[in-house]
Amino acid sequence: MTDNRLNEAAQAVRQAMADDGWIAALTGAGVSAESGIPTFRGAEGLWRGFRAEELATPEAFQRDPDNVWQWYMWRRGLVLDAQPNAAHKALAALERHHRGFTLVTQNVDGLHQRAGSERVVELHGNIHHARCLQCGRAARLPEPGDGDGPVRDGERTDMETPRCPQCDGSTRPHIVWFGETLPQQPWRQAHAAAASADVLLVIGTSAAVYPAAGLIDVTLAGGGRVIEINPQATDASERVTWALRGPAGDVLPELLQAGGVAPA
Ligand code: OAD
Repeated sequence: MTDNRLNEAAQAVRQAMADDGWIAALTGAGVSAESGIPTFRGAEGLWRGFRAEELATPEAFQRDPDNVWQWYMWRRGLVLDAQPNAAHKALAALERHHRGFTLVTQNVDGLHQRAGSERVVELHGNIHHARCLQCGRAARLPEPGDGDGPVRDGERTDMETPRCPQCDGSTRPHIVWFGETLPQQPWRQAHAAAASADVLLVIGTSAAVYPAAGLIDVTLAGGGRVIEINPQATDASERVTWALRGPAGDVLPELLQAGGVAPA
């Protein structure tokens, strides 16, 4: 992609860095699509005929905890088999290159961290952890080979939520579900980053889920500019400053390189 929009957006990134300003990024499922992780709202987001919205709720978990657990363990299996892609790596390179950068993600897959990002604000939790319903502790799940690793689809359908290693209480996925409030600390960090951002990169999100999508408006209200990277138009496309169409793994490295960030 070599058009005016990309050049203008790259110039804004370059300027923010030259002024020692703040850059923030908000990522969604699309940033992991090129790693083979299905997004939520595409046709590929279906699992055994369920839509994500039917499984990612407290009610679904109350009704059938093992079904919801198995869905997450299936997703976790995909994530553990996947590798970070060029977009994850480009964001890790941006963090290394520019001190004033905050990466906010709606993703729970941990691929940003695996690509080398060290300061990741996770708004929706983390799929590699289970949280105790009794003592509240979130513990990392066993790795594959530790006996109770993730489910490969079709491999096991008998998997139950594990017991808490601390107090033996029941656990649940360490994920924020529809209808639940975001954890306060990450939300405050994300809000502060968006409010002070000279440039907000919005990558691979349908911008349909709030409050995360509202960060776009926080940046715009603060006078910052917003660059969207997505192969398709989204709910946010009309209000962003530049909408760059294309896969994140192509467009983001091109943008950052044009903005002066050395490739990963
Ligand atoms: P969605 O599935 O709603 O949107 C994914 C977006 O990624 C779409 O706009 C796609 O066009 C775009 N996309 C697809 N391939 C891409 C690529 N190669 N490069 C860039 N973009 C691409 O996912 P989210 O917006 O992340 O919440 O969904 C938000 C939240 O809804 C998720 O965090 C999850 C879900 O329910 C929870 O789990 C709490």
